[in-house]
Amino acid sequence: MSKSRTSTPIDAETLEKLIATARHARGWAYAPYSHYAVGASVLTAGGRIYDGVNIENAAYPTGICAERVAIFKAVSEGEREFSAIVVMTDNAGTPCGSCRQVMAEFGLSTRVLIVDTTGNVRIDTTVEGLLPEAFRPEDLI
Ligand code: THU
Repeated sequence: MSKSRTSTPIDAETLEKLIATARHARGWAYAPYSHYAVGASVLTAGGRIYDGVNIENAAYPTGICAERVAIFKAVSEGEREFSAIVVMTDNAGTPCGSCRQVMAEFGLSTRVLIVDTTGNVRIDTTVEGLLPEAFRPEDLI
């Protein structure tokens, strides 16, 4: 498999829907410890949208990020290809290393849009942009 450097185009209407979905989901973030609410949405190759929020735990390392929740929800329903991922926080924080690795499992060209809570796209990149030289399934020889 080649490491594509081309990002997926998304039309403005779909982008608005992804942003609205991430914003709505963010309201369900369970972040009583960090108080850092994150909402995510993923667009599958087939056009479905899944959402996710960060879910923290009193045993801190057990919590999980919004991006992984959204991706895992989609994967657990049979999805394997993603066109775009939107992540919304107050300050447009970028995905953690674990989330980048999980994204890379399913494709490097997936568009990643980091938005703030006003809906401004602050970073427009790809999984490969976030995680160059990723370790991927084809590396397991
Ligand atoms: N978090 C996410 O959900 N996504 C990110 O991109 C960065 C961090 C969560 C994990 C934890 O619940 C809180 O934000 C503070 O790290």
